[in-house]
Amino acid sequence: MEETAPVGPWEAEAFVDYDRLVKIFGARPLTESEVKSLEKVAGGSHIMLRRRVFYSHRDLDVYLNMYEKGVRCSLYTGRGPSGSTHLGHILPWFFTKWLQDRLGLELFFQMTDDEKFWHDERLDISESNRYAYENILDLAAIGLDYRKTHIIIDSEDIAYLYPIAVRVAKKITFSTQRATFGFTDSTNIGLIFYPVLQISMSFLPSELYKEETYVLIPAGIDQDPYWRIARDIAPSLGYPKPSQIHNKLLPGLGPEGKMSSSKPETAIYTTDPPEVGAQKIIRAYTGGQPTVELQRKLGGNPDRCSVYKMYEMLFEEDDAKLLERYQNCRTGALLCGDCKAELASRVRRFLADFQRKREAARDKVELYLLRTKFELPKRNVRKLLQ
Ligand code: TRP
Repeated sequence: MEETAPVGPWEAEAFVDYDRLVKIFGARPLTESEVKSLEKVAGGSHIMLRRRVFYSHRDLDVYLNMYEKGVRCSLYTGRGPSGSTHLGHILPWFFTKWLQDRLGLELFFQMTDDEKFWHDERLDISESNRYAYENILDLAAIGLDYRKTHIIIDSEDIAYLYPIAVRVAKKITFSTQRATFGFTDSTNIGLIFYPVLQISMSFLPSELYKEETYVLIPAGIDQDPYWRIARDIAPSLGYPKPSQIHNKLLPGLGPEGKMSSSKPETAIYTTDPPEVGAQKIIRAYTGGQPTVELQRKLGGNPDRCSVYKMYEMLFEEDDAKLLERYQNCRTGALLCGDCKAELASRVRRFLADFQRKREAARDKVELYLLRTKFELPKRNVRKLLQ
């Protein structure tokens, strides 16, 4: 029997016990040798792999095997566009871009404006749809290549997914679905249908390329329930099981919880003016002691510090410098004020640069849309009527 999981698609903690999570979900921790084989195929290393920001997986080994054999492979990830994008959202996209570049893979990306409309009472579909387009600017600013990045917007591009969705839907009973997602009698039926679409998207590459296509999904483990169902039903629909690689969630800048739009002061948005982003860092909660004296004497706790985690997961490329920061925090040699000031200036620079790229992408958004590149399957009416 599976224990109930503390992280589901619509709620998530930050400093969670990831080892426990891996066990509960039945995923596999990413081992040293698996990291090595990915690095070998990629011809290089990435901080999020070395530091196990990506820390668990399902069938990554199978995927790499297929890749090396020359079987067609692609990437899939997505976003529920309920607002502006923050650093917690873009964290896995940086790694996805690295995979795209290093392995030469095409990425299929799902903007679930329908999901967010169904999920959030206050959000109109026109707004989540507008955010879908807004958020594409962030994908572009990250540097994802539009020739290899194909985005679908659920409320507009459903014709690509629907032929798959009808077959997927028939395989999922309400009882499985309710047990997997915890839906109740008062859940609206939009949300009840929605998982079909997120699951169907993992089979779309096989349909578009008209050949068996292995898919790797970089995403937070909170999305795992979808893939458990997808993997169960894939063989009976004639598709390869999608593989996953899971990232840890970026902690928010408050005392607890993941970086979340429900607490905007604890999240750094890509659209925050650089000075505002820097100020959020200065005000962040840390793993430090209440006073300078105590900090000098007892040292801080980087393992539970949102500021340290920002360095570790995003802003410090250099392993030796990261280790030094860790030790200096532990021994009390480094004070939170200084540590924050340095991060604030990195965040300020990052935001200014990112926003320049984001603005430059405004006239390129269409190039990312799947519908501008892949034709819908044409049907021969005459033949159908014979
Ligand atoms: N459900 C995801 C969210 O709320 C959006 C999403 C759709 C997604 N397809 C995905 C996320 C694939 C990761 C991978 O943000």
